[in-house]
Formats: sequence, C-alpha cells, structure tokens
Amino acid sequence: MKYGYFDDANREYVITNPRTPVKWINYVGTLAFGGFVDHTGGALICKGDPALNRITKYIPQLPDSDFKGSTLYLRFRQGNGYKVFSPYFVPTLDPYDLYECHVGLGYTRIVSEFYGIRTEVTIFVPMGDSRLISDIKITNVSDQPMEIDVIPVVEYTHPDALKQFTNADWIPQTMQSEVYEDEGGMKILVQYPFMYRETRINYFTSNYAVSSFESDRERFLGGSEYGTWANPLGLQEPELSNYEALRGDNIAALLHHLGEIQPGETKRVIAQLGQEESVEKALPLVRKYRDEENVDRAFRDLARFWDDYLSKLQVETPDPDMNRMLNIHNPRQCYITKNWSRYLSLYQLGLGARGMGFRDSAQDVMAIVSHIPDEGRELIKKLLHIQKRDGSAMHQFNPLTMVADEGDSREIEGAPRYYGDDHLWIALAVTAYLKETREIAFLDEVIPYYEKDKEGIPIEWGTVYDHMERAIEFTRHDLGRHGLPLLGFADWNDTVNLKAGAESLFVANLYGKALLEIIELARHLRETESVERYSAYYAEMKERVNEHAWDGEWYVRYFDADGTPLGSRSNTEGQIYANGQSWPVISGFATPERATRALDSVYQKLNTRKGIKLSAPAYNGFDPNKGGITTYPPGAKENGGIFLHANPWVIIAETIVGRGDRAFEYYSQINPAAKNDRIDEFECEPYVYPQNILGDEHPQFGLARNSWLTGTASWIYQAATQHILGIMPTYEGLQINPCIPANWDGFRVTRVFRSAVYQIEVKNPDHVCKGVKAVKVDGKKITGNIVPILGDGKTYRVEVIMGGEVQER
Ligand code: GLC
Repeated sequence: MKYGYFDDANREYVITNPRTPVKWINYVGTLAFGGFVDHTGGALICKGDPALNRITKYIPQLPDSDFKGSTLYLRFRQGNGYKVFSPYFVPTLDPYDLYECHVGLGYTRIVSEFYGIRTEVTIFVPMGDSRLISDIKITNVSDQPMEIDVIPVVEYTHPDALKQFTNADWIPQTMQSEVYEDEGGMKILVQYPFMYRETRINYFTSNYAVSSFESDRERFLGGSEYGTWANPLGLQEPELSNYEALRGDNIAALLHHLGEIQPGETKRVIAQLGQEESVEKALPLVRKYRDEENVDRAFRDLARFWDDYLSKLQVETPDPDMNRMLNIHNPRQCYITKNWSRYLSLYQLGLGARGMGFRDSAQDVMAIVSHIPDEGRELIKKLLHIQKRDGSAMHQFNPLTMVADEGDSREIEGAPRYYGDDHLWIALAVTAYLKETREIAFLDEVIPYYEKDKEGIPIEWGTVYDHMERAIEFTRHDLGRHGLPLLGFADWNDTVNLKAGAESLFVANLYGKALLEIIELARHLRETESVERYSAYYAEMKERVNEHAWDGEWYVRYFDADGTPLGSRSNTEGQIYANGQSWPVISGFATPERATRALDSVYQKLNTRKGIKLSAPAYNGFDPNKGGITTYPPGAKENGGIFLHANPWVIIAETIVGRGDRAFEYYSQINPAAKNDRIDEFECEPYVYPQNILGDEHPQFGLARNSWLTGTASWIYQAATQHILGIMPTYEGLQINPCIPANWDGFRVTRVFRSAVYQIEVKNPDHVCKGVKAVKVDGKKITGNIVPILGDGKTYRVEVIMGGEVQER
C-alpha cells in the first residue's frame, strides 16, 4: 500500500489516504513555542517546555480516530438539524472526495473535499512567534450556493502535563475560561488555571465575527458527554452556549457563520492559538495576525528560513531517494532533533520523565553546525552548564528551569549515578562547531559547572576548553580492572545496565575519538604540549583495547564487574554488538586487519536487508544483571532490533576502510524514502528516520517505531554527506574524500562553507570507491584534497577527479 508521495519541487510529502498505519506527524514552531501536528489535524502544542507549560491535551494512546488536541468542524443545514463534519477527516470520519495532507517545512496543509466544500487549512507557527495559526480557506465547489458555519476547536491541558493525568481533583477545580469581546464582533477566548490568571493565559481567537462560543467540553459534546467528538450535540443547536467555564475540561470553540458562499467563491478565517502574560499584552500581535497579508508574509518568512537553511548543502547523486533525503527531509529532521532532543513526539511524551538529553543533544548539534551554527553553539553552551566539576555530565535537563538529573540511573538502587559516555560527546560537538566556523574564541568562553551553593550560585566556572579537558580527564581516571573505562549506569546503549565495576569498550572508543578531535584541535592551535599529552593518552588506551578486547573475529563490547566479556563468542546470547565493531574503526584503535575483519563480522552476523541489528543473538528472558535490554522480547529495540542510530556508525567505518559499495548498501537499505511503496510493513512516516525497526528475530520483522526524535537523523546525515560523499569541514578547509559505489560516474554537491559557495563536481572515470586523483578550483589545480578557505561570499567551481593513483597529501 501507498499512502502518499514525495513532492520534491514543493519540498513536501503529500499524504493522500488518511488511514495511515499510525499517525504521521510534522513539527511546527520550536521549543520556544510549538509542537507537532498530526496528519488529521490533531495538535500537541507547548511553550518553552512540554512538561511544565503544555497547552493542548493530546493523548497519543487514544485510537487514531479520536479527537486529539484540536480539530475543525464545518456544518450546513440539513433537515431539522445540521450536517456536521470535519475537513480533517478525524474525528467525524465522513467519506471524502479528496483528502491531502501536505507535510511541509514547518507547516502542515490539509486540503479536502466533502459534500461540495473544499477546505484548505495551513497550520504553522510564524518564525519566533508564540501562536499557532490555522489559516482556513473554504471554497464552494458545488453548483449551488451554500451556507456554511466554521467551528475550530482546541482542548486545553493543565500546563503541568503529568498532573493533568495524575490528579483529577485539583486540576478540574482550577481550569477556567472567560471571553474578551473585541472589535467587530470578534472574540478572544481566554483560558488559564486559576493560579496563572494574572501571569500566563492561553487564548484562542480569529479574524472573523464569532456568533457564539463554548469553553466547556461537557456542554459542547452534550448529553452529559454521551455526545461525542464524532457527533458533538452542541453543534446541532443553532448557537453554542456562550458559557465561560468555571471549572472542568476546558475547550475553546468559536462558531463563525460564513453566510452564503456562491459556487466557486472562497472565504477565509484565520484562527490563532497562543499564550501571553495577559490579553492586553497579546492584543497587538493578535490584531497583526488577523490581517491576511501579515499571515501571508509570515508564511513566506518561514519558507525563506528553510530556503536558507537547506541551501547550505544540496546534492545531486545518481540515487533519487538519497537526493530527496539529503536535500530536504534529513536536514529537516536534524533541525527538529536539535530543537526537541528526545523530549516531545508521539513516542517521547514530554511528561517529565525525560528532558533534553546531554548525549542526544550533543550528537544532534553535530549535524546542524553546517546549517545554523549559532543555534548549535547555544545548545552546546546549555549542555556545558550541566557538566559537573569532575568532568562527568548530568544526563538530561529541563529547558525552562535548567534543572538537570541523572536519568534512569535514579530508578535503580545502588546503581552508578552517571553514564560512562555522556560527557565525552561534548568534545565531538565543540570541535564540529569549530571546524565549521573557526570561531576559536568560543574555547575561551566561561561557563559554570553544574554544582551550586545554597543560594543557587554556581561553585565553579571554566572555559569551554576546560570543560572539554575535564571530560577527558574524568574518563582517563575512571577505569576498571583491564584499565578500560567504567560503564557507569550505561553508555550510549542505555539498556545494558551492568553491576558497578563493569567496563565499556564503547566508552573506550568514544574516548579515543574525543582524543583524536582534541589532538587535531591542539595541533591547529600549535599547543605542542597538549598534542603530546593527549597522544600519549590515546596510545595507552589503544593498546589496552587491542590487548584485552579482541575476540578473534570481532571486538567484545563490555566486561562485567568480574571480568567476563559480553559481546564475545564465548557468550550464547549477545555474542556480537555492532557498536563494538564500528567504534574501534572510528576511534582508529582497530588495526587495519582487525578493522576489516570486525566489519565483515557485522555484515555476516548482524546485517539484514532492512538494516543492521544492534546485537545478536538476542537475549531471551529478563535478567536483572543485564538490565533494560532483557526487558524486550528478542528482536525489539536494543535487544537484537535494528536500532538505526548505530547503522551510520557502521557506514562511517566502512568508508574509513574504503568500501563504498557496502557503505552505500547499508545507507540505502534503511532509507525511509525508499520504503514509500511498501510502507504497510514499516508503518512510520517515509519522510523521516525512525529510532528502531524490529529485527529478524521478531515475528514482525521490519516494523518501525519511534520516528522523528532519534540520533539517526544527525549521524546518517553526517555519514552520507561527510563520509560517503566525503565533503568534510576541517580547520584548514573543505576536505573532499568521497567513498561511493564504484558504479557511480560521479555526483555534484553545492556546499556553503565559511561564507563561500563551493560548487563541487566529482567525477569517477575509473569507477573506484575511494581515492582522489586531482582537485581543481576554478580550473586551477591544487595540491591535496582540501579546498582552502576562501571565505569571501563568492562562488567557486571545484572539480574533483577520483581514481586509482591517489595524489600525495
Ligand atoms: C535512545 C536514547 C539515546 C540512547 C539510545 C540507545 O535513543 O535517547 O540516548 O543512546 O536510545 O540506547
């Protein structure tokens, strides 16, 4: 089955059948104000923090046919009552003549036709603004005049999103609504929990005279709520009850009589859902966005933002699915993960158990510094604020309060209270930012460590460079019986939770990679002493890894506290782990023979045609000594599932050893765009990467879940652009070192780097996977494959010839 198609020219995915296997969503706005809109118009919106300041009540666990957070009703007279239907399909489920949901960049547009009425609603948040706009255009496509009423509706939640579900006594006693009569019969329906009446109000309004309104769910649905969202009895009355709710389940419904619409005629109503300190404060912008031209302008500004964002890197490869992902959907997903970390999606419910993740966000930053470096830098700074004085990091933080915690490690009595890997990621994020921008002064910026005194004042501050050095030193001293880094509560794989004293090869390799980055930086800064010191650390860990962790055909993944390996052929379950093989190649610790041997073991033992599994064979039964991983049945998530985040690491490792065909095979087999024609098995959106796909030990092999907020977005983007296409920023310039399928004749990339535009054309006449023979910049041959920094806003033509005889560097 197919549920839609890619419209690359308009940079949209268009859903043409609303009965997708699960909801397919899109993000609007940012964490400052925004959330997601599903393909049938449901909306989860918050301001600043989904746990502490949520606006709409969207309950993902309800059936897909139910109302969630918002909808739109239309109605016309029929018999003694009204024909009521939703142009969003949900929740009335009327038969439609046309349904399209355009998943655009920062907006969703639902276009539908029911009963001779064409409705087009564009839903978006203007750049930097705190309101969700629903720009509703109604056209009479029948041959008779029609009298139509338009009723947009939202349902509110208490801002404390979790309390909404845990306290059904306090919450309903506090929720209140009142109406503010505005010019021209327009109304602003105001809503707040009593304690915020003077400081923070939600409002819902439109640019059209409102004949009546409703703010109480029970009255709207009618019949003591035996009326339903599919057939709200309140809409069978000529008018809503104009009731200002004193308690209960608060909604906002505005009834607009559009009057008679002639065949071919269109009328437009623009609804706004926002939050402000007070109505008075909200008024100027509310009035601004009642003007159609201002709404059109805001929509154009949004498009301009995305034009600029995407223009930083555009590709033309022989593979159309790769092109549409790299030119549109993958960098978009990277921006979304940068904004939302793992905080708010259909799967990450943003109710407070998680916040912005330290390791997650550090990795997200790496893919967007090329596109929007300032936002990357801001996020890095936030992360450094929650690093501790000993160099380790708090696991996650709440973006409104900047209060951090130790994540799931708090749930297990006596478990280590830190994660072995978190802090090390920051070295990768900072150096990615520096290579892109060369803003070396950032290293001297002073940022506090997390610990505070009784007054809440930070106890110690350090420069960005200090923070990085402490991260390294923490791991250098936090070692187990083989001299390998301790696991802590877990490393990148959150679900392997071994007793204190266990060692992690992942942390060892991440430490190695972080050291490589710091050594390269120190070399660039000509800090010889640091280069020497860190090189010694590196050599020392490299030796330990190779001495203890080689298992014959691959590297082991952990040693538990008494020195027993996990991820070894001596185990019956969990014999081999993907990260155990990709990371020694990325860190450079693996010798060339071991690197190819280990990667071949991945191909033989972990690859499936739908992606690389994280480990195999899966554990089959709960084992408290291994922890979270054994809570999953075989083939699910980290337990033998295709955990996509780890796939690009194998791809990167394959490009390091020069095997472009295999790297591309791995890339293509997980490309969601390539699954568009057989999506029933996959179920999730074909325009974004999901976090996981069930592996071949699970009966539902191929089923995806947890779409959107996953480190896969950042790493697959880096793997494709920097390693397969090989366009890699360095301190000295833009390095071009592709590793592609041998049958490619070449490809083109336009890359903006340090303000110059590089139009790169790579030719592959000898049909090699890797190796650059010659590079010309504007027709002039250069030495080596690093195009120098030209940084002057001009456009340069870069011609790259791949081939057998690699030029000396
Ligand atoms: C989830 C977490 C991430 C972790 C991964 C593997 O995606 O957000 O932090 O690394 O799972 O366990």
